[in-house]
Amino acid sequence: MNHLLSVADLGVDGIDEILRLTDSFVEVSERAIPKVPALRGKTVVSLFFEESTRTRLSFETAAKRLSADTMTFSVSTSSVKKGESIRDTVQTIEAMGVDAIVVRHASAGVPWQIAGWSSSAVINGGDGWHEHPTQALLDCYTIRQRLGSLDGKRVAIVGDVKHSRVARSDVLAFTMLGAEVTLVAPPTLLPPSLEGWPVTASNEIDEILPKVDVVYLLRMQRERQSEALLPSLREYTARFGLTQRRAQLLGPDAIVMHPGPMNRGVEIAAEVADLPNAVIVDQVRNGVAVRMAVLFRLLGSGSQLEGLEHG
Ligand code: CP
Repeated sequence: MNHLLSVADLGVDGIDEILRLTDSFVEVSERAIPKVPALRGKTVVSLFFEESTRTRLSFETAAKRLSADTMTFSVSTSSVKKGESIRDTVQTIEAMGVDAIVVRHASAGVPWQIAGWSSSAVINGGDGWHEHPTQALLDCYTIRQRLGSLDGKRVAIVGDVKHSRVARSDVLAFTMLGAEVTLVAPPTLLPPSLEGWPVTASNEIDEILPKVDVVYLLRMQRERQSEALLPSLREYTARFGLTQRRAQLLGPDAIVMHPGPMNRGVEIAAEVADLPNAVIVDQVRNGVAVRMAVLFRLLGSGSQLEGLEHG
């Protein structure tokens, strides 16, 4: 594997391999000094053309815990503001000597373009509405950690599926690992066609919640909505929000997930996000170890893993 652009690049075996590697890096992350020399001498750059808190900071933390050097690119203070193209930006950064580029862009396909121009490993940190593979990997890891496996588990993905790269990557990864996925949304927030999606769809959240092992809430992505797709946010919350009343419909072992950032009070009630069965903080914590595994898989070597020594 030279790049990580889509969950589909990994297949079931590739996902399993990353999740097994993640176990090792969870152990490293729990040490008093959570650092190993596995990627000493390598340089990882964050090339984010769109806002991020979790993905950017967790990749940077992951790279540092592996002893790689890091570079951060911020559009607002870069020469992109003077009209420099993405291709020239990538070539400029590569000329400084980098080994991996983590890229986020508002347009679908940009990480593939960069992979075509670049000799570095390219990791998709989220492209438009299209894919967010490392989010899917950390979600799979978190479900396995809480529920043991995804095989045969029932997952409801609720909300703005249409504009969600997380939903697209999660559907691929969850179903590859054997989960049954139901999309729950008003018709205006579903893709125009679900042909080829290995899912069922519903707009009756109250009927679905008692049957699922996982309810995965999506953020209402108002910045990606060019038209009025809902009468109002208040109506959305009334019909589809995970309110305290609805959370009581879940089984005792069911978990609540959200990729963040959350709109508390819109897709999820503030109190529900803090319940013991809400694993949203676990998702963020696991995101660092999963991204260590991805960076190690792309830039490291197996012999370094055998003795993950302290740095
Ligand atoms: N889940 C996620 O991608 O969050 P950020 O936009 O903060 O990176």
